[in-house]
Amino acid sequence: MKQPLLIANWKMNLDVGETVKRIRACIRLLSAVQEKADIVICPSFIGLLRVQSLLKHHPQCSLSLGAQDCAWEKEGAYTGEVSPVHLEQIGCRYVLLGHSERRQFIRETDAMVAKKFSAVLSYSTLIPVVCVGETASERKKDKTEKIIRSQLQPILNQHPPSDHRRIVIAYEPVWAIGTGIPATPRDCARVSSFIRKFVKSNSLWRNHYPDFFILYGGSVKAENVHDFIANQNSDGALVGSASLDPQTFITLIKNASN
Ligand code: PGA
Repeated sequence: MKQPLLIANWKMNLDVGETVKRIRACIRLLSAVQEKADIVICPSFIGLLRVQSLLKHHPQCSLSLGAQDCAWEKEGAYTGEVSPVHLEQIGCRYVLLGHSERRQFIRETDAMVAKKFSAVLSYSTLIPVVCVGETASERKKDKTEKIIRSQLQPILNQHPPSDHRRIVIAYEPVWAIGTGIPATPRDCARVSSFIRKFVKSNSLWRNHYPDFFILYGGSVKAENVHDFIANQNSDGALVGSASLDPQTFITLIKNASN
């Protein structure tokens, strides 16, 4: 049985001072919890170094660090971009790729996300977390599987890494993100199983399949997290707003660990 993976996406919500305050609170609260989950926090870029130095001073704390995005090159003239190599150097273990807010507001395409995925695998040992999911209108037209297939195919056209590192796919229906209306556990189970089959059917990735984690994201709360990971509906959750308050997030971790 995989231990659930819970990833907190803090988006652009907190300045550095507030990020540090909340990480300190998470470290304190976690020390009293016997969590049986892998926990990752993704603060904004400007908070990463401070968080990493805090975590260094608390080696007993099991929190891992993640970035919310990265560049598709290792270095060079790419103003404003952040290299996956540099993220790894400062202690990141995970990186989100293709979050729907980036697809929507920055116009990131499937091809761009695939290039980032390839750079992460080629130049770093970071664990990529590729976000996929349909919009409300695509869902209405019954296009969920078609959309997810087109988002995943360019990723699966890449060669798997030779190290058996974890690869994470987060199913995040766009209509469920930040709306308070999550998918049903049944929808989550159906789409997760579709993603599993799709990965397994790919000849390049078939042998790498056991290292895939499928997460659910979109209005996950302390009260519903267990529904999404029960019966292996998914291997964990990507959590936005419910991860911002340390006490609430720790309750969510406890509920997911039970
Ligand atoms: P939410 O965000 O939990 O606030 O819906 C999830 C996400 O954007 O990853």
